Amino acid sequence: MIRLDRAGGYAMIHKPSSLAERPGAHKNPTGTECLNFVTEFLDTVGVIRGDNMADDLSDIIDHYSSDPEMERQRLVRHQLEHDLTWRYLDNYLPARGSVLEVGAATGVYTVELAKRGYNLTSVDLVAALLDECRKSLAAKSLEEQVNLVVADARDLSQVAEREFDAALIMGPLYHLVQEEDRITALSEVSNRLREGGIIFSTFISRYGIMGDVMKAIPNWIEDQTGVQFLLEHGRKPDHYPKEGFRGYFATVSEIAPLHEELGFESMVLAAVEPAISADDESYNRLQGKQRRLWLNLLYKISTDESTIGASRHLLYIGRKR
Ligand SMILES: C[S@@+](CC[C@H](N)C(=O)[O-])C[C@H]1O[C@@H](n2cnc3c(N)ncnc32)[C@H](O)[C@@H]1O
Repeated sequence: MIRLDRAGGYAMIHKPSSLAERPGAHKNPTGTECLNFVTEFLDTVGVIRGDNMADDLSDIIDHYSSDPEMERQRLVRHQLEHDLTWRYLDNYLPARGSVLEVGAATGVYTVELAKRGYNLTSVDLVAALLDECRKSLAAKSLEEQVNLVVADARDLSQVAEREFDAALIMGPLYHLVQEEDRITALSEVSNRLREGGIIFSTFISRYGIMGDVMKAIPNWIEDQTGVQFLLEHGRKPDHYPKEGFRGYFATVSEIAPLHEELGFESMVLAAVEPAISADDESYNRLQGKQRRLWLNLLYKISTDESTIGASRHLLYIGRKR
């Protein structure tokens, strides 16, 4: 089986010397089997393709540019994810300092962090989203505290500062479908944190999404090839999906090692959109004391291993060694 391992931050390819080594292979593969093998191999070796290896992200830019308001409203729809994430930010961010936010979108976190006195550099791939962020900052006279940068998480060369106290990368890692791209993005962030700096990164859970998929596209289950591919690779078989949601869906077990190999000490892996919120509306309706008490309960159980994999959104917190 083709396998992509990481060692000391570098990707290594392990491939069978012939198609016959693949599990379940037989001596005389059909033409389709050969073609599938080659396609899968080329897909997997993106890391050694050389100069053209960068995945084309224009579909993400198109997706978010078409409706910035929809993205701004995302955390209005997913209030539990928002509130639990804030609990963790409140508890793990240093009391003051500089923050790098990568995937800042319309600035839901950036604006509030600036209001609380942090200095920020906020990066996003999509200029139309940062334009909205700029307007929100201006409306609150906070623009002096935030440096907005249109850039790809995989290349933060426009961000010169190397001593951020904390970094948020909440979005890009579930849009980068190639493992080497997720490693590059995390390395770029790590290189800009001071020693002891804190990283907050988010993922979408491979199994936690199943309720949404069943609700939105019940007939997906009939495409057993696609189902199997998602379970094994965490994404659609199509390498460059040009429509719909281009997502990478992580397993719980890969998240801490991914960060640890890049020099982070793991502190928390939490369910910030537990399965219990599958119908968001019940939490969104809560007010006052009831809302606070439910949030307390969900915060308390958010690190129990039985809730993590079943959560839609996962939050990792680590400290740079
Ligand atoms: C679902 S939004 C999340 C926004 C916000 N961080 C949050 O947690 O609500 C994902 C964001 O990641 C951005 N993004 C995706 N891939 C990126 C990349 N390679 N580099 C920078 N930003 C990226 C998108 O443009 C979008 O603004």
